[in-house]
Amino acid sequence: MIFETIVTTQNSSGEVHIAPMGIHKQDDLFIILPFRPSTTLTNLLSTQTAIINFSDDVRIFAGCLTGRRNWPLKMAEKVTGHVLENTLAHSEVKLLRMEDDPVRPKLFCQTVHTVNHKPFTGFNRAQFAVLEAAILVSRLDRLTPKKIESELDYLRIGLEKTAGPVELEAWQWLMEAVAHYQQESKP
Ligand SMILES: Cc1cc2nc3c(=O)[nH]c(=O)nc-3n(C[C@H](O)[C@H](O)[C@H](O)COP(=O)(O)O)c2cc1C
Repeated sequence: MIFETIVTTQNSSGEVHIAPMGIHKQDDLFIILPFRPSTTLTNLLSTQTAIINFSDDVRIFAGCLTGRRNWPLKMAEKVTGHVLENTLAHSEVKLLRMEDDPVRPKLFCQTVHTVNHKPFTGFNRAQFAVLEAAILVSRLDRLTPKKIESELDYLRIGLEKTAGPVELEAWQWLMEAVAHYQQESKP
């Protein structure tokens, strides 16, 4: 099973990096799988720590994909690092070992500390639509315009029926990115 999370890391100078990552779980370990090249990978190898944020604020996912990475943070409690202010829960993890790979290494991480901040309020189809659209945006160069349009048409159904203002704002950012890409790639 894969959990769509926001991973925060920092470099040796303390500069924070925020990135959506699909995290795998194996027994009590989290596995982070960054595609090379990756700032998350570089930071984790340098500091050996990361914070996995379990957030339902889909603006953070869409924002990171569209150049909006400046999200409010607070200090982590047990490791050096930062936690998103707007997260339902977070886990502070330490790198245990890496299974190296030229494309996508596997970073096995041990949880040091977990905090629940807010209750889970239920599934929402618009949040799912934004996550799927964010993944599409991260793959625009590998998809045909027809495929992008048909996927977005389907996702728009759940979005329009169930979105709140947060989901609509996130969707808007992603649609601007799609329009910009299509404009730039016109012959
Ligand atoms: C829901 C979602 C899940 C993602 N999962 C991954 C992932 O597992 N690995 C990865 O390298 N990028 C993933 N991405 C794309 C990255 O967030 C994005 O490319 C980011 O810039 C990663 O590179 P970085 O570590 O240099 O920031 C995901 C994006 C979204 C929207």
